[in-house]
Amino acid sequence: MCGIVGYVGSNLAYPILIDGLKKLEYRGYDSAGVALHTGESLEVYKKEGKVSALEESVYGKNIQATVGIGHTRWATHGEPSDRNAHPHYSRSGNLAMIHNGIIENYAQLKSELVQKGYTFKSDTDSEVLLNFIEDIKINNDCSLEEAVRVALKRVVGAYVILLLDKDLPDTIIAARKGSPLVIGIGDRAHYLGSDASPMLAYTKEVVYINDYELAIVRPDELILKNLGNERITPFVQKLDMELAAIEKGGFDHFMLKEIFEQPQTIFDSLRGRLDAVQQTITLSGVEKIADKLLAADRIIIVACGTSWHAGLLAEYVIEELCRINVEVEYASEFRYRNPIITDKDVIIAVSQSGETADTLVAIENAKKQGATIFGIVNVVGSSIARLSDAGAYTHAGPEIGVASTKAFTAQLAVLYLVALKVARIKGTIEDTLYDRLSADLAKVPEYVQQILDKQDMIIRAVAAKYSDARDFLYLGRGYNFPIALEGALKLKEISYIHAEGYPAAEMKHGPIALVDENLPVVFVATKDSYHEKIVSNIQEIKARKGKVIAVVSEGDSVVTDLADDVMTVPQIHEIIAPLLSVIPLQLLSYYIGVNRGLDVDKPRNLAKSVTVE
Ligand code: G6P
Repeated sequence: MCGIVGYVGSNLAYPILIDGLKKLEYRGYDSAGVALHTGESLEVYKKEGKVSALEESVYGKNIQATVGIGHTRWATHGEPSDRNAHPHYSRSGNLAMIHNGIIENYAQLKSELVQKGYTFKSDTDSEVLLNFIEDIKINNDCSLEEAVRVALKRVVGAYVILLLDKDLPDTIIAARKGSPLVIGIGDRAHYLGSDASPMLAYTKEVVYINDYELAIVRPDELILKNLGNERITPFVQKLDMELAAIEKGGFDHFMLKEIFEQPQTIFDSLRGRLDAVQQTITLSGVEKIADKLLAADRIIIVACGTSWHAGLLAEYVIEELCRINVEVEYASEFRYRNPIITDKDVIIAVSQSGETADTLVAIENAKKQGATIFGIVNVVGSSIARLSDAGAYTHAGPEIGVASTKAFTAQLAVLYLVALKVARIKGTIEDTLYDRLSADLAKVPEYVQQILDKQDMIIRAVAAKYSDARDFLYLGRGYNFPIALEGALKLKEISYIHAEGYPAAEMKHGPIALVDENLPVVFVATKDSYHEKIVSNIQEIKARKGKVIAVVSEGDSVVTDLADDVMTVPQIHEIIAPLLSVIPLQLLSYYIGVNRGLDVDKPRNLAKSVTVE
């Protein structure tokens, strides 16, 4: 993970870098640091903790520089500390570098350097790579650019690196493989970042750097080369994003803002695609690979975290509506277990960031074996989006809160569209069901707004009641089972309360042993074909004195009477209902996290974009 920024231009670099790092803190917040080229020397400032801690430690210092790089860290090699914070100096002090990624063969490189007498100030793989580069530069008496090229040919792993050289006062050298890098083109200035958010205030023209590319960046020049030293013409793209989208807009936290944005973001995911009047769905990505989908033996969905939960729900929906076998895989397992893939497989990769390393490599491998890749991605221009043969963006806008909310519901919205579209093409869905589902899908933004309007205060009260609980159980059946998993994940991510999601009936085979008068059990119990069954499961918990909190459909007096607390959602077709039932669970987690005094936007140990495996 980690976030990286860079600036070369004629303005003061430090405030631009700090502002950029704050926008990238979702990528990690174990430590932060900047390196500045003053024209004569390289100055490094770094500090354990968030960017605000760095700012405090630098306060009052006279920082005059128009070139610099900055880093916010999610620790991999070495504990979070000042010493392990980036940027690192090379042994001579003539180079400074930041790194996002993991150098897998760092131990080998380190032992070679140790034999040559190198010592290291940090425990990081990054400092090893930096000194490896410097060693090549000194021994070959070559430029930094050349040394980076030579070094990277020996590096195994993933990286974005940005380097400053004391002898090159107006230059940043950057290179990427496997971790993201965007370069914004300003007025006699360039901005570098892990994503486009740090440069949004200054430019909308960006270049997405590809793997194995090296950039030499000066105020009025951007040179791109491959590792064979051949020049590449930068492909300049226009950003379709506004600065307001990455600011809190009056909310206490990004997470709350993003939860409340969902009527709009779900609408945006459906807009131009679902025509509820004509009952048509336009999805050019699906149309592009329609022949593959029709001939597919199976669909494999690969994803991580919350995106995996969206994939799990899609399995239920696609199998039901399209009658195609679906497997849902954790990308990290899938990529390492030598799966059997053929050119008849269609892989759906679901990812908010489009940069999750495991998902990215999983689809790279599958692609090599002939599979067709369909990406459902939020971040435009991200690696997974670019690697996909076809796809559909989720259009949720930038999601800053580390715990995913609006990106999840946007993923679901798009997955429903894909399922309906494929079912239509395959002729596996009755017209009446198709019409009902598309009509209900179109109503979701309005229904989500109703939940937010009517339930917010109620959920605050429920949260207040249970904020001190030690454990939670989340139960659901059928389409609501993935929502139980997602509800539990949300709670543990931001409140640090142990929470388990389980299929409601399977609960009898283990988790029921946990039930006593102190255990809150959240049932996702909207009206569906399993309703009577889940009512029995609620009875089983009540019989053991567990506290029942239920997400129920409006008008459901049975569960309302049984439960200790209810959170109500409008009645909608059971296939679409998860898009509604997740909303109260997001709010419940949010308010419990806030009640416990935690930083819900930046939960400990987590990062939003996991670019290491
Ligand atoms: C991290 C984030 C989760 C996210 C997961 C997958 O763990 O904290 O919110 O669901 O990565 O990320 P992706 O960007 O691929 O959806």
